[in-house]
Amino acid sequence: MTMTNDIRDQAYLSGNAVQKLNFVSNSDRYIFRKHYRSGLRSHIFEILTAEDVLKETQGVDMDGIQLFPRAKPKKMFRILRNKFKGKEEIFHEIKKYRLLLKFLGPEFIAESDEFIVDYTGTGTNQIVLCGLQEYVEGEMLDPWRLFGETYLRNLFKFNIQEGPQLQSLVRKAQKNIAEFVKRTRHMITDMGYIPDLAGIGNLILTPGGALKLVDINNIVKIELDDSILIDDKGYPSCDISVEVLSILEREILQKDIHTDDPLYRIFLSPERKKRVKALEKKFYKNL
Ligand SMILES: Nc1ncnc2c1ncn2[C@@H]1O[C@H](COP(=O)(O)OP(=O)(O)O)[C@@H](O)[C@H]1O
Ligand SMILES: [Mg+2]
Repeated sequence: MTMTNDIRDQAYLSGNAVQKLNFVSNSDRYIFRKHYRSGLRSHIFEILTAEDVLKETQGVDMDGIQLFPRAKPKKMFRILRNKFKGKEEIFHEIKKYRLLLKFLGPEFIAESDEFIVDYTGTGTNQIVLCGLQEYVEGEMLDPWRLFGETYLRNLFKFNIQEGPQLQSLVRKAQKNIAEFVKRTRHMITDMGYIPDLAGIGNLILTPGGALKLVDINNIVKIELDDSILIDDKGYPSCDISVEVLSILEREILQKDIHTDDPLYRIFLSPERKKRVKALEKKFYKNL
């Protein structure tokens, strides 16, 4: 995917956008709207057509009934909050994204065109990493609410009735989740990196049963030893991500989590989990 000139040259930020961005120019056709969910690391904007926003706000007449269809993003626009010291650091970050793409593949991540801009809004020149990313529609897969196999059924039941079609959708999602786990584990063993699976909304399950990691700028080092690595925000995201991986295997794929599995033996030991909990507590206290 390449960024279209339309978006790059003509986009503008609407209403509640954080501030005017010098690297985005005005457009009548596209509107940037702050996404209703956002994380600690990125500013996320929906790129919508002005036409869709008009329909959403003014409504459309459907057989005499006034409807207000939600404007669906054409793309997501991500601005990383990280303050990079220089181009080298940014290139390193982009390399991590390429790594994720290589191991998980476009089927399992929301693909992004990463680019660097010179942000002058603060009065100085600041180098900022942005991404123009595929929009993924679907439900957040919340690892902390996953209990047993009914979870997936309930997730899809909003759109589809009980029956063979629902059954096959659940099976398809399970197959995709199994493949996601497999690829993530390859990335761990081959490269010593794990994507952040812990953040709320980082994983999205589409209505078609695909699983996509949307938080693509957040992969962390993993060491298979006693040390608990904390990220730049002080969060033990590596350990929590391994825990999420194990939850996917246990609760969704109904696998026995073997204690002879080296990854889980190290990361899920009760003693280590206690230390991780303490770090998590400290992190939330400092928020
Ligand atoms: N490409 C996308 N498609 C759909 N939703 C997205 C996309 N990117 C981010 N989001 C949503 O926006 C929220 C914040 O995004 P995230 O990438 O996790 O930000 P952060 O890096 O700050 O954690 C999440 O809830 C996520 O589901
Ligand atoms: Mg996130």
